[in-house]
Amino acid sequence: MGGKLNVSENCLDRHLGTARENKAALIFEGEPGDVRTITYKQLHFHVCRLAHIFENMGVGAGDRVAIYMPMIPEAVVAMLACARVGAVHTVVFGGFSPEALKDRINDCKAKLVITADGGWRRGKVIELKANVDKAIAGAPGVQTVIVVKRCGNPVNMVEGRDVWWKEAWAGAPNTHAAKAFDSEHPLFILYTSGSTGKPKGVLHTSAGYLLGAKLSAHYVFDLKENDRYFCSADIGWVTGHSYVVYGLLANGATVFLYEGAPNHPEPDRFWEMIDRHGLTILYTAPTAIRSFMRWGDNYVLRHRLDSLRLLGTVGEPINPEAWMWYQKMIGKKRCPIVDTWWQTETGSIMITPLPGVIPTKPGSGTLPFFGVVPKIVDSDGNEAPRNSGGKLVLTRPYPSMLRTLWGDDARYKKQYYSEFPAHPDYYFTGDGARQDKDGYFWIVGRIDDVLNISGHRIGTAEIESALVSHPKVAEAAAVGRPDELKGQALVVFVTLKAGHETSDALKEELRNHVGREIGSLAKPDTIRFAAGLPKTRSGKIMRRLLKELATSGEIKGDTTTLEDFSIITALKADEE
Ligand code: PRX
Repeated sequence: MGGKLNVSENCLDRHLGTARENKAALIFEGEPGDVRTITYKQLHFHVCRLAHIFENMGVGAGDRVAIYMPMIPEAVVAMLACARVGAVHTVVFGGFSPEALKDRINDCKAKLVITADGGWRRGKVIELKANVDKAIAGAPGVQTVIVVKRCGNPVNMVEGRDVWWKEAWAGAPNTHAAKAFDSEHPLFILYTSGSTGKPKGVLHTSAGYLLGAKLSAHYVFDLKENDRYFCSADIGWVTGHSYVVYGLLANGATVFLYEGAPNHPEPDRFWEMIDRHGLTILYTAPTAIRSFMRWGDNYVLRHRLDSLRLLGTVGEPINPEAWMWYQKMIGKKRCPIVDTWWQTETGSIMITPLPGVIPTKPGSGTLPFFGVVPKIVDSDGNEAPRNSGGKLVLTRPYPSMLRTLWGDDARYKKQYYSEFPAHPDYYFTGDGARQDKDGYFWIVGRIDDVLNISGHRIGTAEIESALVSHPKVAEAAAVGRPDELKGQALVVFVTLKAGHETSDALKEELRNHVGREIGSLAKPDTIRFAAGLPKTRSGKIMRRLLKELATSGEIKGDTTTLEDFSIITALKADEE
């Protein structure tokens, strides 16, 4: 406590006047193929200008700013400009719906929104500004919207509220004396799914977060001065915060930023870009690797990939088959793979190999990073014997840990520190895991009411509350079933209100309804109508049984607490 810093100065100004000044901070490639290189000096100019614009608008220390943008350099500029003036950004992934954006804006009371007219995805324009307009219709606290012109699609600019980035830009000075903020000054809020219907605003602060992101990026990616680093995560997720923006820029690295889809115009887009830009490190998600495998080796074999020297994965457990493919086809058995386990809450990588130092085992994140003390424990918090599964906890604090949930300290304590009454200092991760005889950690996956679909975290309660907000739905239960491509697929069981008929058209209507409420990433893979849902005598839906049914088509588990067994027979009979 008591130390002060400016996070943006640590990512930018510290490199000025050094050999890094004219080094590329960002190499950007848009989906249509436009390329822009931005040096540290130029990025500094941009950030300084936007910082002035913010201050002229009355946006300063502690104010919240929502960022809803495509993966373009202006998104990075926006985040760093917030950090520069001490404003707290909340980046909302562009795939979230206006409804989800509205909830996040209202929860943190953002007064400024930064967006773009649109972003490119598979040759089409995602209309971000139109979504912002819909969101703001229900978010009266927003005073200003800054709009980047990216795609040139028509947008509606509201007089007195909306300004074009370019126009706001004119005349703003391009130097800005950065003020130092307390080490615990809030840096960002990132909403993530939990076990209730409402996403949680994970709060990260300044010095500890930056230290965690910077140190881990340095060691885990073994950064070298000439690296060209590519992380395929969107800045709307924590991976984009820590390992596209803060961790990499604080190290003075060159970050490659790609706007669009990995299979546009063809499924070899990544490999083509890696060769053309000479990229050296690739950090991506297992679900992406499984898609590449499915698209076929030929797309990979068209390219040399000889600039690559290190590969990483994050977001979900990687199956050994995908790991082996990644190592052989992409890494040509030359590149180490770092399988990094961490969470939005941890802010930086917690369990990971150090490349070239820690022998890897396909599917294991191996060992804890410096200062991280994880344990596998049983339900009472006692350490589980080696090779037997348990709950993954972090027993000691570390610099980049979340500080609270925005506006809800009580939920923060309950969510993370109440699982083991005998150990109130154990942080519960929500993950199940085991440690093998060598002490290596193997993450099994979430054991709470959170699903991991294509590396995206989605709460079952969020899906259920979206479904029951549809006028025809009485009750809903969401569960995951294993899926070869996505890791988990989303299956929902729905009962209808009296007088409504089941139909395929209604299934489609419900899928679209969830898309509108949350975003397409949350659309159920399977919808099953049921006459009733299995419940305990106290009325709690027994999701465990539904999960078994969705996974194996059978229910063999304990049904003694079930209130009405005939429901199970009916559910099985309804099977598609
Ligand atoms: O279940 C774990 C899984 O992703 C969850 C965290 O999700 P999120 O906060 O969205 O952050 C994702 C990016 C850091 C964890 O609780 N997870 C993340 N990385 C791994 C993983 N599971 C297995 N292996 C990993 N490397």
